[in-house]
Amino acid sequence: MSDIVILGIETSCDETGIGIVKNGREVLANIISSSSDIQKQFGGIVPEVAARKQLEFILPTLDMAIKSSGLSYGDIDAISVSYGPGLEGSLLVGLIAAKTLSFLLKKPLIGVNHLEGHIFSTFSTYLDLTPPFLSLLISGGHTMLVLVKDYGVYDVLGDTLDDAVGEAFDKVAKLLGLGYPGGPIIDKMAKKGNPEAIRFPRANTGKDSLDFSFSGLKTAVRVFMEKEGKNHKIEDIVASFQEAVIDAIIVRVRRAIEKTKETKLVLGGGVSANSRLRKRLKSLSRDMGFELYLPPLNMCTDNGAMIGIVGYYYFKKGIFSDLSLDVKSSLSL
Ligand code: KG4
Ligand code: ZN
Repeated sequence: MSDIVILGIETSCDETGIGIVKNGREVLANIISSSSDIQKQFGGIVPEVAARKQLEFILPTLDMAIKSSGLSYGDIDAISVSYGPGLEGSLLVGLIAAKTLSFLLKKPLIGVNHLEGHIFSTFSTYLDLTPPFLSLLISGGHTMLVLVKDYGVYDVLGDTLDDAVGEAFDKVAKLLGLGYPGGPIIDKMAKKGNPEAIRFPRANTGKDSLDFSFSGLKTAVRVFMEKEGKNHKIEDIVASFQEAVIDAIIVRVRRAIEKTKETKLVLGGGVSANSRLRKRLKSLSRDMGFELYLPPLNMCTDNGAMIGIVGYYYFKKGIFSDLSLDVKSSLSL
């Protein structure tokens, strides 16, 4: 069978990602431009700024991706694009680029759910990995445990009741005055702190629940800072916060594995880059005897290659979108 090359476009937030993927597994290019340096000045994402930067970055990023793949536009078999969930203005830039390419190249357009991109982002590393598996999707906007029964067949087992896990990292970093995005800053700083120095609360969402909740933890950190923050090392505070987040994740992963009897746990999303979480999950996988699949760091945060991977499976099934495809900022799985 001849090779299928998909160009994947990802613009749901502040990253402009263009990936080129062969046969759903081989990443020929994965170029990411980010406006996070600019967002830093505002302490978080300003949607209007993110959308304007998408517009500025999209064509140069596309150009770089084509060049770095060594292919030409004629080699592309289809264009896949994330059309939600995300920021409307940002998504529109990617969608318009995708529609234009599809129209000009006379190649099919494939609308992809951004969350599916994260779920399948390990597929270029683990070539034999196929559904069914349990997915832990942890990003700036989502915190989910999903049973992936097949390509496109999902059972959401747990979701966040309030803040997403990456959002908790970002908000706590902001209230501690550490900068944006908070996840990588806290990850690095926590290495020098004692995770047991302060006992922050671990939210209980119910005995058998697989749902998450992080807003209480965020409030606990704020109240702690007001009362006695000055008496503690900042490294100990962030390490203790991070440990509370990770404990909450570990408890639910354990429950989900016990409940589903799945033997594969697949991570995806920006927070799966967290070094302490990776370590704790590795030891859990040894204890419980499941296989752990971690995305490489450049596939954790938003990128176009993961959208190209998912696009391939739609292509194989013959599922295409037409030019009336619109963005859906709150698209669910
Ligand atoms: O997947 P992503 O790029 O965007 C969304 O779809 O939301 O995730 C971004 C999130 C941010 O909240 C960021 O703080 C977090 O991922 N993040 C991390 C780490 N690297 C990025 N959180 C914890 N530890 C990290 N090393
Ligand atoms: Zn994402």
